[in-house]
Amino acid sequence: MKAYKKAIFKAVKKGFTVCDIGAGSGILSFLCAQAGAKKIFAIEEGNIIDEAKEIAKLNGLSSKIRFFKGHSTDITLPQKVDLVVSELIGTGGINEGINESLLDAKKRFLKPGGIMLPKSLELFFVPVTAKEFWKVNMSFWDNVCGFDYRIKRPKVSAMKVMKLDDESSYLAIPEMISNVDFSSFEKIPHDFEANFKIKKDGPFHGLLGFFNSELYRGVELSNSPRFPETHWKQALFPCKDEIRVKKNDILKVNLKAFRALTQFYWRWTCKVERKGKEIASFTFDNLKLDKESILFGREGFKPNLNEDGSAENMILSLCNGNRTFDEIAKLLQKKMPKKFLNLKSALKNVKQILGGKIKA
Ligand SMILES: C[S@@+](CC[C@H](N)C(=O)[O-])C[C@H]1O[C@@H](n2cnc3c(N)ncnc32)[C@H](O)[C@@H]1O
Repeated sequence: MKAYKKAIFKAVKKGFTVCDIGAGSGILSFLCAQAGAKKIFAIEEGNIIDEAKEIAKLNGLSSKIRFFKGHSTDITLPQKVDLVVSELIGTGGINEGINESLLDAKKRFLKPGGIMLPKSLELFFVPVTAKEFWKVNMSFWDNVCGFDYRIKRPKVSAMKVMKLDDESSYLAIPEMISNVDFSSFEKIPHDFEANFKIKKDGPFHGLLGFFNSELYRGVELSNSPRFPETHWKQALFPCKDEIRVKKNDILKVNLKAFRALTQFYWRWTCKVERKGKEIASFTFDNLKLDKESILFGREGFKPNLNEDGSAENMILSLCNGNRTFDEIAKLLQKKMPKKFLNLKSALKNVKQILGGKIKA
């Protein structure tokens, strides 16, 4: 937060209009106000926006900050702004959708010549030995009381390492795989390539990903293991199995990043070559879309309610100010006796569905 504060105080001029994308509890908006901004549009899609409003009120900032609830790409602002500020950097750099949100914000919200904060984001990869991570998350599942539990290995797309001890775990020199300047980019990079020359023998457990961001001229933020630890730590893209690499091996990496509906996915492929011959390769692909997600994405698909949806629909339409909870539950159970075997289960469902939706 120190770096953001420094960057905001350098960038914001008295009278600026600002847009905060993903305002969360509002801290960046408040700092912009403190730095002299005249008007701030704070956009946040989560319910945390309610807290942000309260905190703004508590600190006498309500008149300066206008809150918008929703995803920034769905919001229209009343005017263009001098500065777009955001903190959408994920541990893997881009996995909180920073590119998509900022490309849209630059095009629709920013005045010509306005400032994007952060200004840029560089992503780095380096193959590492991560013994502790490997033991706890991967090899532990190889043999649980004599049983093969490997399906329990993490399926998430990028994992945080608690803390990489130091750069002595690096098996090669880090490579920059992406460099985006938010004030000028036009396209979102999805496909990254890197080649590494292995500098020492050792077990290769995964690719460590970290970022370096220039927030504003001369103000940098990084989660590189080289710098003091941040809450981001680093992202590890694990190997499928441990690979014993040797000095001078060549490691070829391809990383694809993509969004499917609201989820962010990575797919990474590694090939290890020794003296021109491939000695190991794997693709780690966690993209497993469930049936519902596939249907949601299919153009022209005509959705219909399932049993849960029908029950919810019925409860909502029966709740019209003329019936008690019990009466709604009785009608629901009569209509759907197989789903609700007794009145108690119907009543429980009615209260669950209506929770937070009824007038006091
Ligand atoms: C990492 S938090 C940052 C919160 C706050 N800006 C801060 O610095 O503490 C990211 C927040 O942005 C929100 N968010 C992410 N992308 C968004 C977008 N495009 N539009 C609106 N909200 C977004 C999320 O709901 C989340 O609350």
